[in-house]
Amino acid sequence: MSAKRLMLTGYGGFVAGSVAWQALRNGDWDVYALSLIEAPEERERFHCIQFDLTDAAQLRKVFEEVRPEAVIHTAALADIDYCQNNQADAERINVGVTRELANLCGESGIKMIFCSTDTVFAGTKGMYTEEDAPTALNFYADTKIRAEEIVRTTVERGVVSRLSLVMGLPVLGAGNSFLAKMFDSLKQGEAVKFPANEIRTPVDVITVGRAFLEMAGSDFTGTIHLGGSTRIDRYEMACLIAEKLGYSRDIVVATDSNAMPGRAPRPNDASLDNRKAQRVLQTPMQPLMDALALVLQSKKEQEHGT
Ligand SMILES: NC(=O)c1ccc[n+]([C@@H]2O[C@H](COP(=O)([O-])OP(=O)(O)OC[C@H]3O[C@@H](n4cnc5c(N)ncnc54)[C@H](OP(=O)(O)O)[C@@H]3O)[C@@H](O)[C@H]2O)c1
Repeated sequence: MSAKRLMLTGYGGFVAGSVAWQALRNGDWDVYALSLIEAPEERERFHCIQFDLTDAAQLRKVFEEVRPEAVIHTAALADIDYCQNNQADAERINVGVTRELANLCGESGIKMIFCSTDTVFAGTKGMYTEEDAPTALNFYADTKIRAEEIVRTTVERGVVSRLSLVMGLPVLGAGNSFLAKMFDSLKQGEAVKFPANEIRTPVDVITVGRAFLEMAGSDFTGTIHLGGSTRIDRYEMACLIAEKLGYSRDIVVATDSNAMPGRAPRPNDASLDNRKAQRVLQTPMQPLMDALALVLQSKKEQEHGT
């Protein structure tokens, strides 16, 4: 039986690189990776198509050629401060590209999984459920809230997947991975700064990829929170990771991200309630240390080509 066609946007980024690696490993999918970066060598069942997603005509052409059975849309401008200072770009990519893809998926009845974020919440209460109303504290969150609504209203087989802080090591470039940057600093013996005011439910990139691929192949539609089972502030999280890697927790410096001048406001407690994910997915949501173990094990497997 031939594999199904999966279209994946943002391949050069942190999350999508891991999704592609897992999709090729589990054998159910032919991957069509859309990316701004130069295409790596073609591999069996892997096709990289290089173009700017804001070119709507090209996007339609590629979509019609590939005829995907599912789309996982990770591409975005995900840097909160960059979005705050470059709102036209953020609007074009985070909202405009999502609208074009949602129209294409909606017209053809294609499954679409949209990557949203815990940052859509104001962070005043924490442990947000899928029923809680989002409130944008910054422009990035504003674009994601509007993009979510486009997916909900346009794509019958749509999934809005809100990710908590994603922990992992990238298959390709560093992208948005805090762990990769932390590893680099620790190796140099440099102190690392993490905000103690930001409480999150970190989720590992392997679990995110598994959940995305499971939902791409299932009947699930609607909104879902992908967060880990440990609710923790980012400073304490970094201390535990440093200690696990054999460093002293003194190498981690606590900051307050909302007391830094010139930065866009962030939610303090944007922890996500993952009970719906635990109920409807076969993919388990992990506690922090199990998630870290999964990430380290997967990196070894990637390095050994297994
Ligand atoms: N990382 C986290 O902790 C986190 C948490 C919550 C939600 N999210 C969401 O998860 C998704 C993936 O995040 P990430 O951490 O993987 O971000 P990332 O590393 O910054 O990757 C995003 C990718 O989007 C692609 N992109 C941006 N503009 C493009 C354009 N005009 N045309 C084509 N591709 C474009 C780029 O891929 P190419 O280089 O291939 O072009 C970029 O690498 C995002 O939607 C983000 O909002 C992430």
